Amino acid sequence: MFSKLFNNFKKTDPKVPDFYTTDLHSHLIPGIDDGSKSMEQSIEMIKSLKNLGFKKLITTPHIMSHRFPNDRDIILNGLEELQVELQKQNIDMPIQAASEYFFDEHFIELIRKKELLTFGDNHILFELSYTTPVYGIEQTIYELLKAGYKPILAHPERYAYFAASPEKYHKIKEAGLLFQINVNSTDAFYGKKTKVAVKYLIDNGLVDFVGSDTHRPNYVEALEKSINSKIFKTIEEKNIIKNAYL
Ligand SMILES: [Fe+2]
Repeated sequence: MFSKLFNNFKKTDPKVPDFYTTDLHSHLIPGIDDGSKSMEQSIEMIKSLKNLGFKKLITTPHIMSHRFPNDRDIILNGLEELQVELQKQNIDMPIQAASEYFFDEHFIELIRKKELLTFGDNHILFELSYTTPVYGIEQTIYELLKAGYKPILAHPERYAYFAASPEKYHKIKEAGLLFQINVNSTDAFYGKKTKVAVKYLIDNGLVDFVGSDTHRPNYVEALEKSINSKIFKTIEEKNIIKNAYL
């Protein structure tokens, strides 16, 4: 009797909430960016994500012409190899690939050629320089929208020049961007300033998507903690999280 009661109160593994069973930001294709180093590590991370309750993954290798000169073929071939390995090991996890585009001349060229890798309803994910503000971003947002894309800015809380002047978030949001925060930012994985900025975004209802930005196994370990952080737990009060529609 007592042991039965005890079992009912046994601590269960942390699980992602229902609104976050699809992840849209990670670096799980081995060897093509600063994410997974090997097929073995990719499989290990995908198994851990599955244990955390994820049901669908959209992985987003960097396309950054000066550091990671990936293209559509490299990413899609890498995805296929990963899917074959998942099947071989009987791991049931739907996985798609797009990219995390770095905002540079090459990105602008790909927008003009309409050659971006999309997911969901023509969504694309892009990032900015962490330290140097980009001038003319509104013009590029306009071009993206005109071309029919739905642009998502990756981890707005991580750009120092926005975090220092959070009123700027409203301006680029109004220009037509969707925002994806990193869940691990809510628990100071990236430092205190990022945590303050992510709290601002959450409290002001500016968040559209949440992502893991998984690069290595320790990111998934941190995620287990972050999904139970005080800040993350308040996210649904003021934000409509759209991961489930992807
Ligand atoms: Fe990323």
